[in-house]
Amino acid sequence: MTILVTGGAGFIGSNFVLDWLRQSDEPVVNLDALTYAGNPENLASLDGDARHTFVKGDICDRALVDQLLITHQPRAIVHFAAESHVDRSISGPGAFMRTNVDGTFTLLEAARAYWGALDGEAKAGFRFHHVSTDEVYGSLKPTDPPFAETNPYEPNSPYSASKAASDHLVRSWHHTYGLPVVTTNCSNNYGPYHFPEKLIPLMIVNALAGKPLPVYGDGQQIRDWLYVTDHCSGIRAVLAGGKLGETYNIGGWNEQANIDIVKIVCKLLDGMRPDPAGPYERLITYVKDRPGHDRRYAIDARKIERELGWRPAETFETGIRKTVQWYLDNPEWVARVQSGAYRDWISQQYTAAA
Ligand code: NAD
Ligand code: TYD
Repeated sequence: MTILVTGGAGFIGSNFVLDWLRQSDEPVVNLDALTYAGNPENLASLDGDARHTFVKGDICDRALVDQLLITHQPRAIVHFAAESHVDRSISGPGAFMRTNVDGTFTLLEAARAYWGALDGEAKAGFRFHHVSTDEVYGSLKPTDPPFAETNPYEPNSPYSASKAASDHLVRSWHHTYGLPVVTTNCSNNYGPYHFPEKLIPLMIVNALAGKPLPVYGDGQQIRDWLYVTDHCSGIRAVLAGGKLGETYNIGGWNEQANIDIVKIVCKLLDGMRPDPAGPYERLITYVKDRPGHDRRYAIDARKIERELGWRPAETFETGIRKTVQWYLDNPEWVARVQSGAYRDWISQQYTAAA
């Protein structure tokens, strides 16, 4: 038995692979193009581990995907590979359409051909697990109930539109061709190996460097934060027991305004790595808002709890403390991901936003 993971060198994918191999000996074939967001260093602890096969390649490369499926005969594909940063989707949507839409289409077609040629138990047991986001549901008003699986899709950014498109493709490959799919729509993740272009790691690394902490608009936008390994356990639960063709929302029951998140990070750092220059909150800087900025996301995670018994193991208090500690313990990782390409993005994004 083997699983094929796509995007397993990124933030969530690498946490998933590491977690998977901590809990099981089932091998993982990891297909990742190593874009700016992919980092083989996340998987360094698996060097020499025969259970992990890393393949540098593109999910849009049909011949490569076909060859991997034939060679490794996976019982499941867990599809993380994507362009994932909303701000980048605003300044350059093309890559999002290519990877998130065309890439998912390519994988679905390859999976359909492979699965179609299986028989017996292998055919019945095969799964295509599509990893998606709560952002496909659009933006909630302050008093709206959280997103349920039945909410209509109302994506507002090129990123969420591309993910919504991919969700629709996955759904239709099930309804039309019978491909055995499951989809998970998760809220904002945080934790180790999170690329420091996203809110929480950016605030940690900027604070430690004495740089401004850029808060978009009024900072009152709300996200529902989930520790990354809880997302991984949710995916495992759905892969193992989710109903075919269905979607499961995964969330942390943890809605927080951005400004409050930034203040929590500052307070933790004040305790864990005090700055002689004064409290880190002095670095908070309000900058121009993101165009089309979604105001509030929140997940109703009752279906996955009811059907599969999943609940997050971490509270925000435990998860954010572990996360800050991880960044304090791994300055070399941070320094290495802050490559030339990273510096170009930060200077382009935050000069424009100032
Ligand atoms: P990430 O940007 O950190 O990682 C994406 C990975 O995909 C990288 O390793 C990258 O090299 C790889 N990749 C990109 N294009 C590729 C291509 N064409 N072929 C092969 N590999 C390619 O993203 P993440 O935050 O780990 O998100 C993973 C998945 O989870 C995405 O599908 C995202 O939409 C979804 N998701 C993310 C969050 C979140 O908070 N980060 C929340 C819910 C859902
Ligand atoms: P982000 O981590 O980019 O995730 P997403 O946009 O997918 O939710 O951003 C989380 C929230 O933080 C979002 O409301 C935008 C905001 N934000 C800032 O205020 N400043 C920043 O520098 C970044 C990167 C995000």
